[in-house]
Amino acid sequence: MATTGKQLFTTLDADGTLTVAIETVSLPDPTGNQVLVKMEAAPINPSDLAILVGAADMENASYSPGKFVAKMPETANAGSKARHGLKLPAGNEGAGTVVAAGDSDTAKALVGQRVSCVPGNAYSQYCLADAAMCLPLGDHSAEEGASAFVNPMTALGFVENAKMDGQDAILHTVGASNLGQMLTRICKEDGIGLVNIVRKDSQVDLLKELGATHVVNSSDSDFMPQLCAAIDDTGAFYGFDPVGGGQTVDTAFKAMEQVAVSRMTEYSRYGSTQPKRMFIYGRLDTGPTTLSPSYGFGWTLSGWLLFPFLQSAGQDTVSRMRKRVRDNLTTTFASHYKTRVNLEEMLTKEAVTDYRAMKTGEKYLVTPWS
Ligand SMILES: NC(=O)c1ccc[n+]([C@@H]2O[C@H](COP(=O)([O-])OP(=O)(O)OC[C@H]3O[C@@H](n4cnc5c(N)ncnc54)[C@H](OP(=O)(O)O)[C@@H]3O)[C@@H](O)[C@H]2O)c1
Repeated sequence: MATTGKQLFTTLDADGTLTVAIETVSLPDPTGNQVLVKMEAAPINPSDLAILVGAADMENASYSPGKFVAKMPETANAGSKARHGLKLPAGNEGAGTVVAAGDSDTAKALVGQRVSCVPGNAYSQYCLADAAMCLPLGDHSAEEGASAFVNPMTALGFVENAKMDGQDAILHTVGASNLGQMLTRICKEDGIGLVNIVRKDSQVDLLKELGATHVVNSSDSDFMPQLCAAIDDTGAFYGFDPVGGGQTVDTAFKAMEQVAVSRMTEYSRYGSTQPKRMFIYGRLDTGPTTLSPSYGFGWTLSGWLLFPFLQSAGQDTVSRMRKRVRDNLTTTFASHYKTRVNLEEMLTKEAVTDYRAMKTGEKYLVTPWS
């Protein structure tokens, strides 16, 4: 028997019109390894924002109950051709209670349990999710489990990746984000050196309270010497950057090279031979990435995305990571929310303007039945 509920869809037309609206949809019964989850909570993460609002002009958008229509700037629209005309669901992850299951044993075992899941359409009252990707939450609330996948597995993935690459220290360019706070706790637990870059004094205090040793404020006049000292102390020639645009990565490479050169016993016109590696894993700044290679030739810049990493890491590693998240959901991997909104409230001008700012500690949680 089909199940009916509200779901959010986002559509970008070829002329740059972005329509985000709530519709009532009918879901078929789950089959095979699928479960039907009655959703209780889903976070609005930066990766969700990319498809919800992107670069659209939200100031001059038209807002009506359960819907907004906005204009995408021409450059952003031209770069989004692949999604023109597609009505897409949104919401990578969330948590809820399994109310029906397909006929696989894995799926049937979850009926009646509260789980975190990664359905890709979490801004819904009901979702079909893959049972293999569901994490039973036991006595945890939906709010505690809503962000149990994307940021925890990414922060853990950075540390796993570093260990696989023989590194014992990491540089992170947005230390105070939700993910950055998790990374700070993980590195402390695992004895991995961590250099955190932040941009406000309040963020320095926040990370110090979590036990971070090296927190460098990019707004300080002596930022570069501070950054070099922290890299020298930890040996962090390996880093992760969610900013993407601008000079953040360039600055990290320059600081790494300054440290490497200071350790050389002989001058070389080619710079140091120290390998330096940065991964861009987000687009908090959607502008062009500026590099001014003046840091020798041993530098590598690449992208980093959670799902390909998990695929390459293998099932044993992924199972170990998921167990660690489940066992430490309210400590190492805790997320905090500024506001709870239902599906209609998340599409008001006030809410959109606030959550698209992506400020530290100001994440929204969507509670579709409230
Ligand atoms: N590649 C992947 O697989 C993957 C997986 C998970 C997350 N991510 C990425 O991880 C990043 C962090 O996610 P989150 O959920 O932890 O974020 P969040 O808690 O919502 O926080 C966003 C943070 O970014 C800072 N920020 C925003 N714009 C910035 C800019 N232009 N330059 C420097 N800092 C800026 C904010 O600081 P202020 O308060 O100072 O503005 C805030 O600390 C996002 O970019 C997300 O897309 C990627």
